[in-house]
Amino acid sequence: MILETVATGGCRSYLVGCPDSCAAALIDPELSRIDRYLGLAAHNSLRIRFLIDTHTHADHYSATREMARQLEVPVVMHRHSPAPFVAMRLEDDELLAVGRLRMQAMYTPGHTRDSICVKVGDCLFTGDTLLSGATGRTDLPTGDPDALYDSLFNGILRLDPAYKVYPAHDHEGNGPTTLGRELAVNPRLQHRERAAFVENMRNLSLTMPAHLTEALRTNMSGGKTVDQLLSEATAKVPFMSLAELRNRVEAGAGELDVLDVRERDAYEQGHIPGARLLPRGQLELRVNKELPDPTRHVLTYCALGLISTLAAATLREMGFQRAVALDGGMAAWRDAGYPVRTGAEP
Ligand SMILES: [Fe+2]
Repeated sequence: MILETVATGGCRSYLVGCPDSCAAALIDPELSRIDRYLGLAAHNSLRIRFLIDTHTHADHYSATREMARQLEVPVVMHRHSPAPFVAMRLEDDELLAVGRLRMQAMYTPGHTRDSICVKVGDCLFTGDTLLSGATGRTDLPTGDPDALYDSLFNGILRLDPAYKVYPAHDHEGNGPTTLGRELAVNPRLQHRERAAFVENMRNLSLTMPAHLTEALRTNMSGGKTVDQLLSEATAKVPFMSLAELRNRVEAGAGELDVLDVRERDAYEQGHIPGARLLPRGQLELRVNKELPDPTRHVLTYCALGLISTLAAATLREMGFQRAVALDGGMAAWRDAGYPVRTGAEP
């Protein structure tokens, strides 16, 4: 069996391949590492056949939906996953055939209602059901400490203690562990009685993960993250440098329409000389009146250069083929000491 581990901060993804058939499954991929996974698969002469999420992640953005689109292979999750793009929904003990490998799903609710562990060879991919020195938390949506107790003590901890444990997180960088080692030293597993285990889980008072709502929104729905929207827009529009725009503003040539897409109060507190106000929220509604000539050279800018990129991409979609965005925003313009006007539009 070929096994590659990809660490992304505290998250762990695993590429599991069959050396005979060159088929592989990718477990818990993260959206920002798609090129890394594809590179590793190519390096190992593997073709990814299945994209597995061990559960609905609340702390990072899953790459399964996007990779499924690129590779035309199914996203695999437990039957209880809420994500509409899951093409193969597993039940307890069902097997995935990955070449000659057999990957067996074990239904292990508790961290979430849709959690599975995946057993293959002498390896157990535990998702967030069991971590090295910890367990998954049970205080996020669909978490249940009672269910986690059963999934652990009446589930995976009854397997051969020699099983190697590969968790979805390893915040301390401990590396793989074994079921036997975790039973012996994992502090949360020392609460062997149900009531004590549940009480300990209820009293952990952990901080909320960053990006919780966005991760749940995108992982549960298949919708895009804000970063995805921005990178798609960035790939569609050309940019103009701050210095180039300053040169044009100072030359006073009227060839370029400069649009400030922030709100009115921000504009009046300081804008680029000659810029017109057209807030991003009103762009589509006012564009026909404000910009009747789609052949004009239009530049958008905002506070930081993000919203203006979305605005320029929207203008291009609407037919303004010469729309560009400022590479930077009003903050960088001020920092550079370039000229600023205050007050209402003339
Ligand atoms: Fe998780």
